[in-house]
Amino acid sequence: MSRNISLLSGKKDDKNSLFGKISVSPNETSDAQLAGEYNLGVSTIHSTKSFYDFLSEDFKNKKAYVCTGSACMCRGTQEDVTQKLKSKFGQDAVGEMICLGRCYENSAFYYNGENYSGDDINQLDEIIDGKHKSTSYTMRSFSDTSFLVENEVFSTFKDFKDLLEACFQTDKNDLINTLKDSGLRGRGGAGFPTGMKWEFCSDQDAPAKYVVCNADEGDPGAYSDRYLLEEQALKVLFGMVICGYIIGSKQGFMYIRGEYPESIDITNETLAKLRDLNLLGNNILGSGFDFDMNVVEGQGAYICGEETALIASIEGRRAEVDVRPPFPVVEGLYKKPTVVNNVESLAAVALIFKHGSDSYKNIGNGRSLGTKLISLDGHFNNPGLYEVDLGTPLSRIIDEIGGGFNDDIKAIQIGGPLGGIVPVDILRSLTLDFEVFADAGFLLGHASFVCIPRSFSAVEYAKHLFAIRNLLEHCGDEFKPLMEK
Ligand SMILES: Cc1cc2nc3c(=O)[nH]c(=O)nc-3n(C[C@H](O)[C@H](O)[C@H](O)COP(=O)(O)O)c2cc1C
Repeated sequence: MSRNISLLSGKKDDKNSLFGKISVSPNETSDAQLAGEYNLGVSTIHSTKSFYDFLSEDFKNKKAYVCTGSACMCRGTQEDVTQKLKSKFGQDAVGEMICLGRCYENSAFYYNGENYSGDDINQLDEIIDGKHKSTSYTMRSFSDTSFLVENEVFSTFKDFKDLLEACFQTDKNDLINTLKDSGLRGRGGAGFPTGMKWEFCSDQDAPAKYVVCNADEGDPGAYSDRYLLEEQALKVLFGMVICGYIIGSKQGFMYIRGEYPESIDITNETLAKLRDLNLLGNNILGSGFDFDMNVVEGQGAYICGEETALIASIEGRRAEVDVRPPFPVVEGLYKKPTVVNNVESLAAVALIFKHGSDSYKNIGNGRSLGTKLISLDGHFNNPGLYEVDLGTPLSRIIDEIGGGFNDDIKAIQIGGPLGGIVPVDILRSLTLDFEVFADAGFLLGHASFVCIPRSFSAVEYAKHLFAIRNLLEHCGDEFKPLMEK
């Protein structure tokens, strides 16, 4: 059944996702029309709609949404935010969204297509009148070879064009070998070698292939993908285009969570400019290579960060995890070979092709190479988004970069709900490294740091995690024992 939906969804239109149409479909009549257009049952459209938080009528009827992410919760700011929003908009007019990526200053909420945080809650009248914009946050690189934060290395459309032209003049196998040699491993959590993934996909013989950017960044506490999309969009989009070129794809998708409205707007604006400059579209720079991509807006389901659920979502199916193998590189979107990569992995590719594989693999140690973005929350004296070398001791991250804690902290959740809660007494014995984390029983994930104060109940924190992880029932048998505890 789900296979049929995938095939029908791709057959009708493999450029504009069925999910995008379902998300905006306003009423029952258009559900039936949509079902008719795609040769699907109306029940299929209904079952997809009922899966997503943002598509419920109750959710849509709210006027403002308070962030229920882990960092805001631990900081204890959200009761005040909720009360102020309710007294402004009405008791029943305030909904919830889980993590708006404002973990550095907390008090986060969403209103009218924009996110706010910090002291913004005290400027509600100005916000409603359109006279107040939210402020930015600290971002800085602590790596000698700053790839992802510094703008000088790759930030203009000319940089994009020059690098694309240079890549078009390089043999595709050499490009793959550069990527493999760099040691880049996926930043989405699993740490799979990116060059190998692209090689597998490029080896597939298929009438169509796809590239998908996983910008669902569902882990509360993480805002590195948001940062890259909003401040370094060209790096990410370059990664998408060059992946399409190497694997032989004509179409990409940027799956961006709906909780990041600014990321969606900036990505759409940047895509439009790239099209104007013929850096996207037909016959890019006269090379004979056609490639375009569209944004798909997530609708509030944590599980969509998992790649097979994300693929199901784009196709307009319920976003449930599929069994692997087959892996997406063999049978992915619309049952065609598909590369799914995280935002940070794609951004790193641009810099590796610009500076060569040595510049990347000379950073870090063992199998954890290159730089990593880390997100520090409001319990640090220097909260913000930082780039560090893999292998950096956590003692340096906490005490020097983060400036120490501003509260009595008992543990830090690193890597989101699937990561681990690292007790404060062992924190400083770790280094930021995939293997070191795994050996100690944790997961680096997106390297988000959410501090849990000693005064915050561990039981309450566990309940919060299970609320996020009601996704576990979709995650497969290995998580079932956790659900029963
Ligand atoms: C429950 C769950 C949630 C996930 N969430 C994300 C996510 O938000 N962003 C992401 O890039 N990868 C996420 N992943 C990992 C993806 O399934 C996939 O491995 C990744 O997007 C591949 O890209 P990479 O090779 O560049 O890391 C998640 C995995 C699981 C099991």
